[in-house]
Amino acid sequence: MYGTIVTDSVARAADVLRTGGTVAFPTETVYGLGADAFNVAAVRKVFHAKGRPADNPVIVHVADISAARRIASDFPDIAERLLERFAPGPITVVVPRNEKLPIEVTAGLGTVAIRIPSHTTALALLNVFGGAIAAPSANVSGRPSPTSWEAALADLDGRIDCVLTGTPSELGLESTVVDCTGETPRILRPGSVSVEAIAEIAMVDAGSTAPNRSEAADSDVPGASSSPGLRHRHYAPEARVQIVDAATVTADSPPVSRHPKQKRAFIGLALPTATARYDLLLKCNDVNEYAQKLYAFFRRCEEHDVDVIECEEVPETGIGRALMDRLRRASAATDNVG
Ligand code: TXA
Ligand code: MG
Repeated sequence: MYGTIVTDSVARAADVLRTGGTVAFPTETVYGLGADAFNVAAVRKVFHAKGRPADNPVIVHVADISAARRIASDFPDIAERLLERFAPGPITVVVPRNEKLPIEVTAGLGTVAIRIPSHTTALALLNVFGGAIAAPSANVSGRPSPTSWEAALADLDGRIDCVLTGTPSELGLESTVVDCTGETPRILRPGSVSVEAIAEIAMVDAGSTAPNRSEAADSDVPGASSSPGLRHRHYAPEARVQIVDAATVTADSPPVSRHPKQKRAFIGLALPTATARYDLLLKCNDVNEYAQKLYAFFRRCEEHDVDVIECEEVPETGIGRALMDRLRRASAATDNVG
């Protein structure tokens, strides 16, 4: 155990990266836990701090498209178009990797996932550091991603070198990951850049993003896959997550009465009729706010020892698709936990 520096100084955080340290930093999606992508020992520290399986590759963050080109061996036209249209922003492109990039970053794959974040603090850090930052989300593996520096510190205090403070992540769900190595770009993970928006500039394979139970519940199954993260347990709060529809929570007589010892929470767009049934209740004004607040709500539920979190189902368009993807993973991962 050692002390974690908490600072708002980009220069200080960049120094930590330069000397092979680990830095949690803000991005517009979720907070990342970064290390110099070309420093193997530093990258290993990131995996170790998170308890992340070594076979799950991390995203490399860069400041602009020319820096992105330098960590690729080939830059497919579609990747270029996607970055030109949506970056800086919540999109990650998977392209053939540059051989010089340490194998630890890409977990042995021939490809690398690259993202240009738009959060001003993230871009400032990238510019001052001047290199490429390998960064998964700044949570302990299997926990909800942090959307504030406080949440990143709560998970990783004493396990990382530095937390660069900044404003909360304004989007709240991880980036859209698009495999650009095939004939048609394929969505490996839905995010804030919607399938519809991508389809406007390219043919797109939306993939089958609904996880089956074995994928979501099984954390360390080895084996090759083009979307390695999908094998790992993700987005899982300690409580049991249930997806419910609005009609159920706004019905006059709720179908299940309150269990005296069971703590319940609700998050969604509807205002539930039986408010007394819930220990925690968050009504969001729209899907964007729901997405932005979901992970912080999961964490708040843990602090309050909530047993069951009811999450209202939303239509699977735009950000709703990413939100439903995360809700399904969270509910599948907790199905057997009770
Ligand atoms: O919004 C985000 O993407 C955040 C912020 C910090 O940038 N990062 C993030 O990283 O969510 P992480 O490690 O939690 O998720 C990265 C995802 C994983 O599902 C991983 O398997 C996948 O991207 N990935 C990384 N490299 C890949 C590659 N070469 N091919 C396919 N998938 C890859
Ligand atoms: Mg993650």
